[in-house]
Amino acid sequence: MLKARQTQNAQKIVGLLKAAGEVTRLRLLALLSEGELSVKDFTEILGQSQPRVSRHLKLLADAQLVTRHAEGAWAYFRLSDAGPGRALNDWLFQTIDPASPELRRDRDKLAAVREAHRDQANAYFAKIAGDWDKVRSLHAPDSAVEAAIIEMAGDGQGRLMLDLGTGTGRMLELLGGRFEHAIGIDSSREMLGIARTKIEEAGLGNVQVRLRDITDIGDHAESADLVVIHQVLHYFDDPATALIPAAECLAPGGVLLVIDFAPHNHEFLRTEQAHRRLGLSDEQMAVWARSAGLEVMQVRRFPSEKEQGLTVCLWRLERRV
Ligand SMILES: C[S@@+](CC[C@H](N)C(=O)[O-])C[C@H]1O[C@@H](n2cnc3c(N)ncnc32)[C@H](O)[C@@H]1O
Repeated sequence: MLKARQTQNAQKIVGLLKAAGEVTRLRLLALLSEGELSVKDFTEILGQSQPRVSRHLKLLADAQLVTRHAEGAWAYFRLSDAGPGRALNDWLFQTIDPASPELRRDRDKLAAVREAHRDQANAYFAKIAGDWDKVRSLHAPDSAVEAAIIEMAGDGQGRLMLDLGTGTGRMLELLGGRFEHAIGIDSSREMLGIARTKIEEAGLGNVQVRLRDITDIGDHAESADLVVIHQVLHYFDDPATALIPAAECLAPGGVLLVIDFAPHNHEFLRTEQAHRRLGLSDEQMAVWARSAGLEVMQVRRFPSEKEQGLTVCLWRLERRV
């Protein structure tokens, strides 16, 4: 019995080492240390065919070095965050030289792929900025969702609210008045143009907007009592890359509200509206929150009243104690 268990254990270790012990698969693991990626991203970065990349990824997933998440016609992968797979990955990243030319080239290509995705989203928002408020209200019953956002934000007041991916500034209008300062951040000049007009018309003297990427907000470290990310994370291949800097902005006792879609199968949203992720599940949110040092404290859901409509989810996140 003991011998059988030892053999099984030895086989598992050999399987794990064999899975990691190949150049392309090492490159895939190194790329995943930068965040979640889809098969499509890998084929673009490595210049290898989809069946070939999928075969390598399957071996890594079977050995539990990575986990796979299917989303419509795509699949996303991330590094395992527990077990022997995690331990081996940690050792690999301590040992591999990140400056090796091949890994550097892969990282440069990844940066180019991510920039292309951002450009696509920016072009989409430049085009629809004037209609965004109408588009948003088609997704879900706005008044019910907004009432829940107000409730989940808590009734306390504070010094600073940050609205990340503020767009036309609706969250600033809704909640900004309770704070000494409220700042909306967005990378779309066109969306911010509309937000500025609305803020001026509403006479919100304590509210400002800034043109910037929401992953580049280090100057607000530990300063915000409330951070809101409303319908933004599905534009990210890896939502954790936005949640981590957002979490770093929270003042002690601060609250992060994420509002986004539940998982869906509307593939056309990728091609027509620049979405990267087809909704976010509670399980994924728990993993991303953990990677940002946060915990999901409350979830609320608002199914659409229309057939095939999208369910809107609200997650309240706080720092883990
Ligand atoms: C769907 S709109 C939502 C706007 C607003 N939060 C709302 O719900 O009305 C998404 C916004 O996120 C912004 N956005 C997407 N990725 C971003 C990034 N990396 N940095 C800054 N803004 C981003 C877009 O420019 C767009 O204005």
